[in-house]
Amino acid sequence: MATYQRTGNEGASSATGRNRLLLIVLGILVLVAVVIAVAVPLSLHKRDTNMDKARKLLSEVPLVDGHNDWPWRMQDVYNNRLGQLNLAQDMRPLYNQSHTDIPRLREGMVGAQFWAAYVTCDAQYKDSIRRFLGQVDVIKRFVEKYPDVFQFVTTAEGIWDAFRAGKIGSLIGMEGGHGLDSSLATLRMFYDVGVRYMTVTHSCNTPWADEWHETRKEVPEHNGLTDFGKLVIKEMNRLGMLVDLSHVSFKTMHDALDVTQAPVIFSHSSAYALCNHTRNVPDDVLERMKQNKGVVMVNFYNDYINCGPNKTPTTNIRHVADHCDYIKRVAGEDYVGIGADYDGVKRVPIGLEDVSKYPNLLEELIVRGWTDDQIKKLLGLNLIRVFKKTEEVSRNLRRTMDPLDDLIPEQAVANETCRTDRI
Ligand SMILES: *[C@@H]1O[C@H](CO)[C@@H](O)[C@H](O)[C@H]1NC(C)=O
Ligand SMILES: *[C@@H]1O[C@H](CO)[C@@H](O)[C@H](O)[C@H]1NC(C)=O
Ligand SMILES: *[C@@H]1O[C@H](CO)[C@@H](O)[C@H](O)[C@H]1NC(C)=O
Ligand SMILES: [Zn+2]
Repeated sequence: MATYQRTGNEGASSATGRNRLLLIVLGILVLVAVVIAVAVPLSLHKRDTNMDKARKLLSEVPLVDGHNDWPWRMQDVYNNRLGQLNLAQDMRPLYNQSHTDIPRLREGMVGAQFWAAYVTCDAQYKDSIRRFLGQVDVIKRFVEKYPDVFQFVTTAEGIWDAFRAGKIGSLIGMEGGHGLDSSLATLRMFYDVGVRYMTVTHSCNTPWADEWHETRKEVPEHNGLTDFGKLVIKEMNRLGMLVDLSHVSFKTMHDALDVTQAPVIFSHSSAYALCNHTRNVPDDVLERMKQNKGVVMVNFYNDYINCGPNKTPTTNIRHVADHCDYIKRVAGEDYVGIGADYDGVKRVPIGLEDVSKYPNLLEELIVRGWTDDQIKKLLGLNLIRVFKKTEEVSRNLRRTMDPLDDLIPEQAVANETCRTDRI
């Protein structure tokens, strides 16, 4: 009995042991199941929530991108023959890997875009005015061709009007002072046809301003802006044309900041401290944004956001977020924006391959702790504030100042022979 008992006990106890083991295994299984059931959807849910939040922010404030070179692609690939193009289809295979088309603009929730009217520097002193006008024309034509998608905009308030109507506000930025042919009259006429920013130079000096290559030269051609260059800035202030300092030399940035009465923009430039390309903005200029109250719109181009070795395979969305973080920290949250430079560059970061990917960047910034208000400023509120202030400065100047009719000094363009008569 005792034995039996013991055996029985043993038997009983071993039966209980088996049950316990079973219970423990079952318990562990249940626990694992619960952990999986809770944790996996939670982590998925968390990711969903940040993306949802990104999209919600994009639906509340227009994303205003400072620079997109789609019109150049139209010129370069199709000679601006829009009749041959269907912009409402996926244009990657048709259009030499364009970063932009209507479906992807919609997917990326683009609210407003400064379309770049750009022509190459070799047109300077030749047919640059004709060719810049051709780019203004092609922008106006594609906006008119798709009236359900685009709305032409020339004012800060117009950005909101287009956004509320569910259209992509379409503004024109003229990329390069070589389109003026050193004439303030030409500047005024570009304003009249709707151009709302002018990049003071592209990658060539004008007879009145130095571009970014000059930054590293011991003897830059003009050492910044000439006297005439300063008048160009003044006349831009009077007109209400945004002064864009992307592409200019560091000295030109400082000279323009000394002269301008309106806030400036950098339509597509990143932070020099993180990537020492002279297309980027150095710290002392970022510091000056606090007084000038302009906006530095971060460029996504691999070569401007990652100056390290082996950039092509590794450059990604975090590099762009680093530049946003940096400019926010050094200049301030009121002076940072987005100017991706899509269709103007050959290499773009992993995660930001085209205009459909903007929400990804917001998601990354949310993860980094950017508040809703900070993201809204980056998206568009900062640029809109700068634009409104520029309009206010213009209204005041137009009351007190006549259009400037100064001419560039004859000797500054003496070697340029493609002129019929005088300057
Ligand atoms: C397409 O782009 C590549 C690389 O930028 C260039 O070499 C080529 O000439 C372009 N093709 C056309 C038709 O423009
Ligand atoms: C730019 O930075 C790289 C390292 O990223 C360095 O090797 C190079 O010397 C720097 N150039 C200048 C002009 O500061
Ligand atoms: C005009 O050309 C001469 C000879 O090439 C050169 O020395 C001079 O600097 C040029 N002047 C200007 C304003 O570009
Ligand atoms: Zn550019």
